[in-house]
Amino acid sequence: LNFASDNVTGASAEVLAAIVKANAGTEDSYGADAASARLTEVASRLFGCELAILPVTTGTAANALALSALVPPFGAVYCHETAHVMTDECGAPEFFSGGAKLLALPAPHGKLAPQQLTDAVAFARANGVHHVQPAAVTLSQATEWGTVYTQDEIGRLASTAHRLGLKVHMDGARFANAVARLGCTPAAATWQSGVDVLSLGATKNGALAAEAVVLFDRSLAAELEFRRKRSGHLWSKMRFLSAQLVAYLESDLWLRNARQSNAMAARLADGLATIATARVVEVVEANEVFVALPARVATALRAAGFSFLDWLAPAGASAPVFRLVTSYDTRPADVDSLLTAVRDAA
Ligand SMILES: Cc1ncc(COP(=O)(O)O)c(C=O)c1O
Repeated sequence: LNFASDNVTGASAEVLAAIVKANAGTEDSYGADAASARLTEVASRLFGCELAILPVTTGTAANALALSALVPPFGAVYCHETAHVMTDECGAPEFFSGGAKLLALPAPHGKLAPQQLTDAVAFARANGVHHVQPAAVTLSQATEWGTVYTQDEIGRLASTAHRLGLKVHMDGARFANAVARLGCTPAAATWQSGVDVLSLGATKNGALAAEAVVLFDRSLAAELEFRRKRSGHLWSKMRFLSAQLVAYLESDLWLRNARQSNAMAARLADGLATIATARVVEVVEANEVFVALPARVATALRAAGFSFLDWLAPAGASAPVFRLVTSYDTRPADVDSLLTAVRDAA
């Protein structure tokens, strides 16, 4: 059983059916198709506002393109030190923006705090022309530590950012998991709390390869169209990407899938809490569980066929830490098999 990531899964039946349906007949290309028009309608209804939505095929592209539309080449983008943009995108945000610099800030639970943003911007401004210029902040929702910013936390961070003249980007690779946790509307989780641009993930939660840049400020759309083309993410057969996102968003598939994966992570964390040799090291609010286990237990689990990633242990941890990720198609029996194996190995 594979708990290494939520992208080790296939795709939801509804998404596959939508692709098959989109396959019939001819359609205009490069986003001028009916599914792409429908996607704008569906997303606008879901987020309760007029917006522009541009599908791309990877989260890296969504993040890098979104940030490139928000910052100048001499801009500073503040992010958490564990942010995917910082650690896992091979410099794509810097490349796509023509040189903007990511500045990583440490903070507990994977969450940036308003005061550290204020301090970092003050430091930059004090250094004048010599420092990259504060331009944007990016927050991951859910975070890379599987925690979820509350609406209030997003609101306070975003209003601080705006007061400082920064744009606010949200890396929503696990946006559905976060909204499922918060129980609020997608609008409340984003633009109503001050988010300017969202990278909306779907691949980890039931799509085949579909993510999107969601612009709550539609004046950015024209520029982003060019940037997307230039990056090679303007699919000629865009209908196949848009159809996936329509199927994902128009019913409650996105939320249903996220609720399932979150519930499985909660089941896993609850089970691990009953095993003396296992210690869950971060609060579980979405679909990731970070657990400290003796190395010999991890080795035994892997020998028994379970996959999961080594993770960086927080300061002071006495045992190695591992990341276990659940997904929309994780079943209670899968979690229970893992728990049994941990008990046996321990
Ligand atoms: C927080 C976060 N952002 C973005 C991504 C998107 O990455 P990719 O470019 O692999 O689709 C991921 C995937 O692991 C992620 O965890």
